[in-house]
Amino acid sequence: MNHAYKEPLIVQEVAPRDGLQIEKEWVETEDKIALIDGLSACGITRIEAGSFVSPKAIPALRDGDAVFNGIRRGKGVIYVALVPNVKGAERALAAHADELNLVMSASETHNRANMRMSCESSLAGFGDVVRLVERAGSAASLNATVATAFGCPFEGRIDENRVVSIARTYREMGIKGITLADTTGMANPRQVARLVARVLDDVPAADLTLHFHNTRGLGLANVLAAYDAGARRFDAALGGLGGCPFAPGASGNICTEDLANMCEEMGIPTGIDLQKLIALSRTLPSLVGHDVPGQVAKAGRNCDLHPVPEYVRAI
Ligand code: COA
Ligand code: ZN
Repeated sequence: MNHAYKEPLIVQEVAPRDGLQIEKEWVETEDKIALIDGLSACGITRIEAGSFVSPKAIPALRDGDAVFNGIRRGKGVIYVALVPNVKGAERALAAHADELNLVMSASETHNRANMRMSCESSLAGFGDVVRLVERAGSAASLNATVATAFGCPFEGRIDENRVVSIARTYREMGIKGITLADTTGMANPRQVARLVARVLDDVPAADLTLHFHNTRGLGLANVLAAYDAGARRFDAALGGLGGCPFAPGASGNICTEDLANMCEEMGIPTGIDLQKLIALSRTLPSLVGHDVPGQVAKAGRNCDLHPVPEYVRAI
């Protein structure tokens, strides 16, 4: 057995943000809060609980302030807010987010589609956010995401040197956490292993997060490739909800309970109560009004055995 598999894998749950941002039907604030509180009770230690973006860009998450103010903060749980600019950072600090996750795409085209600005403007804004957090004397930590790091739906392949250099720039700006995001599920395991190994030359594993979408069915394969290359923290969404409304063909994140199940079966510790998580995931279809892509919530765990049918016992 590979002894590296004893090292914990940290799950950052993103269903309340990446998951709900693309939902057509409005999810009530109190239901968002209940979902986040339910996730906190499953042993998840990091939750991206919402975003502070333009309400015109993402109407589904326009109640971020009320959500952050309404949740029960689990002991030791870090509640992250996605932020695109200084205005978002001010709102996130006012709502007592523990961590601000700034987002820019490696692809200039996707950044313009998603953030309505050039990469240069995004980076200038991130500099302002770093200074704002310092000035405010806030204890909030900073993370920055390189979106479309493994491919862009508009530009196709993304130069790996550019991704490495953006991650370096973030760190030089004083942003500790780095996320490499496969926004529309274009990554493959070999590419992931290569890029993770390169970024880990500059960024400690404790500060690196991988964000995969399962758009082409490679989500968990990419997780294993990244884990084998030394990555330890992964975004995932309950039920496999998720997607960027400004990326054509976007679909769900890797599914949290499917990831937790894989880890449990492989002996990789996650600290997650899988049974509770599955029960929570089974409430999603009524919350969002449609079936969700996750598989383990439908199939049950390996250990959830079925009664042996009468006709079999008779043989
Ligand atoms: N929170 C709330 N409102 C915001 C805001 C924020 N973080 N940033 C800007 N706004 C408001 C402005 O006050 C302005 O309001 P007004 O029309 O009532 O005057 C309006 O949004 C436009 O502001 P502007 O700075 O011109 O923004 P823009 O239209 O160029 O859009 C972003 C830029 C970054 C605000 C917008 O593209 C955005 O929020 N993108 C995020 C998309 C996203 O979340 N994608 C998925 C996650 S990766
Ligand atoms: Zn995403």
